[in-house]
Amino acid sequence: MWKSSLTTDEAAAVDALVDRAAGVDGTSALNEDAHLARNTGSYRHLLHHEDGELAGYLAYSADHGTTQLVVDPAQRRRGIGRRLVDQLAELAAPRLWAFGDAPAARGLAHHFGLVEGRALLVMEKVFEHKPGDFGDSRGLSTPTTSTARFVRAATGIELRGYLPGDAKALLAVNAAAFAHHPEQGGLDAAGLASRMAEDWFDPEGLIVAVEDGRLLGFHWTKRVGDVGEVYVLGVDPSAQGRGLGRRLLAAGLDHLASAGCRSVILYVDKADTVAVGLYESAGFAVIHRDVLYVPQGEQEGV
Ligand SMILES: CC(C)(COP(=O)(O)OP(=O)(O)OC[C@H]1O[C@@H](n2cnc3c(N)ncnc32)[C@H](O)[C@@H]1OP(=O)(O)O)[C@@H](O)C(=O)NCCC(=O)NCCS
Repeated sequence: MWKSSLTTDEAAAVDALVDRAAGVDGTSALNEDAHLARNTGSYRHLLHHEDGELAGYLAYSADHGTTQLVVDPAQRRRGIGRRLVDQLAELAAPRLWAFGDAPAARGLAHHFGLVEGRALLVMEKVFEHKPGDFGDSRGLSTPTTSTARFVRAATGIELRGYLPGDAKALLAVNAAAFAHHPEQGGLDAAGLASRMAEDWFDPEGLIVAVEDGRLLGFHWTKRVGDVGEVYVLGVDPSAQGRGLGRRLLAAGLDHLASAGCRSVILYVDKADTVAVGLYESAGFAVIHRDVLYVPQGEQEGV
């Protein structure tokens, strides 16, 4: 039976189920949205019990048209997942998130004839170098052969840390560079300010590229402990194709390495093939995939 909200006890049982599954799967079957919004009315819930215990849970988001589900590891391969997805047909076509894209999730998706509609990748680069190995990516010195591709830069472009007066130009470049990506491209002054108020914010780790006083691109890095992140890398469309993205990437990696990071991660949509190619060529490899499985013939879109 569909529910539009969960009681406190049901929510606790769902949390316990998700924890049990994560202990086995190594990744949570529900994302933060499903976890936080489950009592806001935008989700519909299905609970499946076996011998009075919660054995399966499905959450359908009416806002996104997507579904997340999990079956207790001790109850798998007994048809529970299939029954939950069968019931989903009463509300919507199955568009299933598979966080971690495990073989079981792929198997279930294929059982329902679903195909990969969207894939969000986590990529990682482990540093095996000393700071500076990417070349003098900010400066003027002659590159060595091994680092030449990181410093192939147009002359006259200065890379420097963020200054408060850069905010407006940075937001404009962000909006232009991510015009196809509303979540990122829609960043406004208040959103920028709130991110800059976070503990991890470091103006030196937000590297901007400036030519003749005009901000052309930026690489916003993030560092938590010894793990760095390519938080946002954006180049104005008018300045793309000049090697600036590669140069900004290298400068940010150098910054993170100098700050003591052992590895760097980033999140990227698999469909963004230019970015994925850039990251691969800089030594990043995919370590995690979240896949949205959709009915055949359906385009992406969440
Ligand atoms: C994916 C998941 C929900 C499947 O639940 P389940 O109750 O074990 O699935 P079912 O028993 O109903 O299996 C239905 C079909 O899915 C496929 N399937 C299920 N588990 C599979 C596995 N480990 N390997 C390959 N195919 C699998 C099979 O086609 C299966 O039919 P069959 O048993 O007749 O061969 C469960 O493994 C789970 O909770 N995983 C973690 C959360 C997750 O990945 N959710 C995303 C789902 S898209």
